[in-house]
Amino acid sequence: MSRPVIQLEGVRKHFWPGPVEAVRDVSLEVREGEIITLLGPSGCGKTTTLRLIAGFEVPDEGIIRVGGRIAAGPSHWIPPEKRGVGMVFQDYALFPHLTVGRNVMFGLDGIPRRDRKARARQVLEILDLGPYFDRFPHELSGGQQQRVALARAIAPEPLLVLMDEPFSNLDAHLRDQVRDEVVEILRKAGVTCIFVSHDQRDALAISDRVAVMNQGRVEQVGTPREIYKHPESVFVATFVGRTNLLQGVVQNENGCVLTDFGSFCRVDRLGMPNGTQVMVSVRPDGFETSEEGTLRGRILSTVYTGAHVEAEVAIPSAHGGTRKLVVHLPPSRGYEVGEEIAFRLDPDFASVVRNACQTLGFGSPLVEEGAEPVLPAR
Ligand SMILES: Nc1ncnc2c1ncn2[C@@H]1O[C@H](COP(=O)(O)OP(=O)(O)OP(=O)(O)O)[C@@H](O)[C@H]1O
Ligand SMILES: [Mg+2]
Repeated sequence: MSRPVIQLEGVRKHFWPGPVEAVRDVSLEVREGEIITLLGPSGCGKTTTLRLIAGFEVPDEGIIRVGGRIAAGPSHWIPPEKRGVGMVFQDYALFPHLTVGRNVMFGLDGIPRRDRKARARQVLEILDLGPYFDRFPHELSGGQQQRVALARAIAPEPLLVLMDEPFSNLDAHLRDQVRDEVVEILRKAGVTCIFVSHDQRDALAISDRVAVMNQGRVEQVGTPREIYKHPESVFVATFVGRTNLLQGVVQNENGCVLTDFGSFCRVDRLGMPNGTQVMVSVRPDGFETSEEGTLRGRILSTVYTGAHVEAEVAIPSAHGGTRKLVVHLPPSRGYEVGEEIAFRLDPDFASVVRNACQTLGFGSPLVEEGAEPVLPAR
């Protein structure tokens, strides 16, 4: 297994006035060649975590190891320039008065002067920027400036590159293309990388693993598939894509949670006693249209997205009234509002989520009888 490049253990950071607990008890390991994204809403501590790793902030508590050495911890400190960490800032931070070549050479004071130009040229070639060596940043497109910033960060061959919202300044149509190109370059070069993003699409698309942050904490770390299919908390379930939150009761004798809409069997890791009221998150992709399906309901609205039809469906609940579910239907045909549709649930898209009891009152009904279901706004 590859070795860890970054290890954070119980890292905390607060700011005055407030105090603002920007980063609380964060533990995280990033391994060589891995691309990991810190994903979370504005103000959750993503940039502060990057700045702590880069050495622009000093942690109040905890230990940060870079390449196996303690870079920050009680009576240890390695300054930013000695950490072997490259950082690409959100606004690229290119020097406007320096050419592309000189921008890239700027970070190369660690290698002999005569070799700097050749190294800058080599990295710019890799990034398809060879012809732009003598241009100035304002003579480049946004995507090209983005790649110059990346060239400057990777030219000194750092152990790790940190990228803070690197794609947020790009137009929607350029964004996916630049993102995929940049990630391909990083992967080919085997560069270890931490991205910061508040866009779940980007995070799921480019990362080996995603660390979802909320209010200074890491709520869950996992592969994009794990995060999407099996969120462990209400926050992760609702922040990373749309979901349906269903009230359920733990049935330990068969290791399942029983809901109005069927049984789900992923409760073991929670270790909750029989009869505990919990919530189950079911992604809209977890519903499969089937004439034999036990769930039947009427379509309330549809949105065609290309990949699927996102439909709101009113389903009669076992306890009376109706519940509204968001489901993804195959895009191969059109659907009418009012049309009846039958489907079954794929338990693989369902996950028992933490926090439900704490958030909504332990043991109390999570959804009132006959009321609309709990459907997150996203
Ligand atoms: N230098 C500072 N002084 C005081 N408070 C700060 C400072 N830097 C960050 N904070 C606060 O710490 C919290 C976390 O900030 P941070 O910049 O890490 O968030 P973020 O997740 O990067 O957000 P965004 O997505 O908006 O960039 C916020 O409440 C912010 O106001
Ligand atoms: Mg930020």
